[in-house]
Amino acid sequence: MRRVIKISAPGKLMLFGEHSVMFGKPCIVTAVDQRMTLVAIPTEERKLKIEAPDIGIIGHQRELDSLRVVANGPKGVRFVETAVKVFNEKFGLPFGVDVETKSAFETSGLGSSSASTVCTVKALAELTGNRLSKRELFDISYKTVLEVQGTGSGFDLAAAIWGGTLYYLYGGEKIEPIKIDKLPLVITHSGIKAETPAMVSSVKQKHKENRKVMDGIFKLMEEITDSAKQGLERKDYKEVGELANINQGLLEALGVGCAELSRLIFAARNSGAYGAKLSGAGGGDCMYAIVANRNKGRVKDAIKDKGGRVIEVRANAEGVRVEK
Ligand code: PMV
Repeated sequence: MRRVIKISAPGKLMLFGEHSVMFGKPCIVTAVDQRMTLVAIPTEERKLKIEAPDIGIIGHQRELDSLRVVANGPKGVRFVETAVKVFNEKFGLPFGVDVETKSAFETSGLGSSSASTVCTVKALAELTGNRLSKRELFDISYKTVLEVQGTGSGFDLAAAIWGGTLYYLYGGEKIEPIKIDKLPLVITHSGIKAETPAMVSSVKQKHKENRKVMDGIFKLMEEITDSAKQGLERKDYKEVGELANINQGLLEALGVGCAELSRLIFAARNSGAYGAKLSGAGGGDCMYAIVANRNKGRVKDAIKDKGGRVIEVRANAEGVRVEK
């Protein structure tokens, strides 16, 4: 009988510490329950075949032993392809593989690339009987991401693997679960796609030009992230909201804000949120607001009024898993 394996992994939402995490400071990320699902079937032919109908990829195929990192093409394919390449180099795949992905991700910015990378590595590990620990899964996935995009702290991979809400340091130097059950969030997409590598290099450039000031900002971001961790553990959402507002001010100082995100952030704050900030690289993608349940309706209406797309998604989701 042909073996079929089905894996799913969650997306992510950066809560605190974006950008400063690239400079050795901690961040807090939560896994969100929009999941990537990947089905993998081993084949005799030494080929990798990918079907990703959600992003228009049909009948994509490559020779397994001559996979290489390509600079362009659909992101979904690049991460899956490179993950197979990295896995094959490390363990030697004894078969070809047919892969099909199905994405529940409604928008950019919620970590579909990291989720598909993690799903691919996990699927190959299961199919080859390699009992990889979470850390090993992370290391192979992180190598994949660095080969594809050259940069990244790896926080999104940690969320996809461990799930829950994590206190995280660059490269997975620290991956510490934060004990919380629910997070009262309203998550919104700005309608603009963020260009993460460009935002990361603009902050690097600013750091080069004005090292002392920028280091001061990163230090403050570290203090905010540490206080937010405590606030989350105490369920002090008022405090966490206040810290989100301060973090947003500092992100503006880094130059990663934009008018569209600010409009949504102010709409949320002015309609009763405890606080709101952008999430991720900035310049587009998502923002979130911390909102008491009783005010959620009002905040969502205010956000929609300003053209934001509210994404109904739960935080603190389960990490990668094998599906029945
Ligand atoms: O744009 P996103 O959601 O992938 O987040 C990027 C977060 C950064 O801290 C700017 C970069 C990183 O890899 O941590």
